[in-house]
Amino acid sequence: MRDQAESLRMLVNRMEKGTDTKTIAVISGKGGVGKSNFSLNFSLMLCKRGYTVLLFDMDIGMGNIDILLGQSSHITIIDMFNKGLSIRELIKKGPANLSFIAGGTGLTNIFTMNDDRINYFIDQLQSVSREYDYIIFDMGAGISEDYLHLLRAVHEIFVITTPEPTAITDAYATMKYIHMLEKNIPFYLIVNRAQTDKEGRETLIRLTNAMKQFLGKEITKLGMLPEDQAVSKAVIRQTPFLLLDPATKVSRAIAEITDRYLLKKTDAEMTTHSFNFFAKLRRFFLER
Ligand SMILES: Nc1ncnc2c1ncn2[C@@H]1O[C@H](COP(=O)(O)OP(=O)(O)O)[C@@H](O)[C@H]1O
Ligand SMILES: [Mg+2]
Repeated sequence: MRDQAESLRMLVNRMEKGTDTKTIAVISGKGGVGKSNFSLNFSLMLCKRGYTVLLFDMDIGMGNIDILLGQSSHITIIDMFNKGLSIRELIKKGPANLSFIAGGTGLTNIFTMNDDRINYFIDQLQSVSREYDYIIFDMGAGISEDYLHLLRAVHEIFVITTPEPTAITDAYATMKYIHMLEKNIPFYLIVNRAQTDKEGRETLIRLTNAMKQFLGKEITKLGMLPEDQAVSKAVIRQTPFLLLDPATKVSRAIAEITDRYLLKKTDAEMTTHSFNFFAKLRRFFLER
């Protein structure tokens, strides 16, 4: 009951402010660097700060957000396409009032499909978007052509890397690729699994400097998450680390990153991009 009243109050607040949904894609170059754990715990932290969040597992066919939550789901995004389910039938409730859509498992190619289905997907997403302050897309590793449409449409891209040289070069190559197509997308950089603060800081500096020097692109250093055994413990327990151990160093780092991110937001900034996301997404897909 309290949750409902709370959501209602936030909805009214948002309507009064005239702000609307912000879309964020979480990407990396290299796989396995911590995108899903970051997306999930960052989303939960936003919920704890009073925002409404829809976490969308876009690692379609290899999704694991539902597993990380211990709420393994039989209904996934794949059913929207194969069985024509509505988006409301796909949205599950997680802890802290988090909404999520599972990515599903199995071979699938949902985005290489006809315009009707693409339109259905975009209409469905748009129909619930007003209920959320944030829609966060946890992407699969690398970028396929179809993911690219989504990446070009979102308001912001969060890039996760580890301090390993292979992860750094892949993160750089991925950002460069997107930047060549969309010059204005803000990139936010997060270094995960830093063994020391120094290592994390140096990685942040190295990548932001390279982006500036070689591409003339300013990107935002959002922060770093330490290497912490609490992460794999949480994965095994199928409980997000933020909930399993809110005081552990990686949880405190998530709180810091979330608050730093929120501080950068102003209402003015939130309104600038009204509805651009859906218009852009439609355009990119239909121009294929
Ligand atoms: N900060 C961290 N400290 C320790 N281990 C981590 C950390 N972040 C991620 N891991 C490990 O890496 C694995 C992969 O993380 P995941 O979020 O699934 O990556 P991705 O979504 O990029 O493939 C986790 O299961 C965990 O074992
Ligand atoms: Mg993942």
